[in-house]
Amino acid sequence: MKKVAVFASGSGSNFQAIAEAVKDGTLKADIQLLVCDKPGAKVIERARKFNIPVFTFVPKTFASKEQFEKEIVKELEEHGVEFIVLAGYMRLIGNVLLDAYEGSIVNIHPSFLPAFPGKDAVGQALEANVAETGVTVHYVDSGMDTGPIIEQVKIPVLPGDTRETLQERIQKAEHQLYPAVINKLLQKDTVGGIVQ
Ligand code: GAR
Repeated sequence: MKKVAVFASGSGSNFQAIAEAVKDGTLKADIQLLVCDKPGAKVIERARKFNIPVFTFVPKTFASKEQFEKEIVKELEEHGVEFIVLAGYMRLIGNVLLDAYEGSIVNIHPSFLPAFPGKDAVGQALEANVAETGVTVHYVDSGMDTGPIIEQVKIPVLPGDTRETLQERIQKAEHQLYPAVINKLLQKDTVGGIVQ
């Protein structure tokens, strides 16, 4: 089974969906590590309940992104991590991580990319008054939600939707889609973002 690290910054509902899918056997993966840049984040509690080791760090205590990414890569290598899943990790991935893992890092984003990249994709969709938005799983490159798209689903924006109701609908879809897509990718060999 492929050794995986999940990176997250917040609540970790996607982390939870992934960890549950591993537990019930629908996602064949070995989660070695949670990497978290926010020491108080709820996702850390969730990882502890699954007995998954956690590496937390405080970015501003490092001189640069290169410095903290070197620490992360060291941790990943110590755990034999082969594949990285970003699940609400609210930071751009820099050169150090990309040099070590490009083609083996995926992200989930709460919009039908290329629409509404970056922060608050749900708020952006409401603001734009669109009839539908979506969820996208994509490979990670150095840009903001720009890497090659792997799978997407469309989600309707309903009359009267608030940020909360739309986010709930989107996250429900994320929790179904992400474990399934990760499972498909891990059962194949991926090199340079291309499924071999
Ligand atoms: C998810 O909706 C994810 O798509 C989004 O952050 C949320 C994290 O929720 N990611 C991005 O916006 C990345 N640009 P969670 O902590 O409950 O999994």
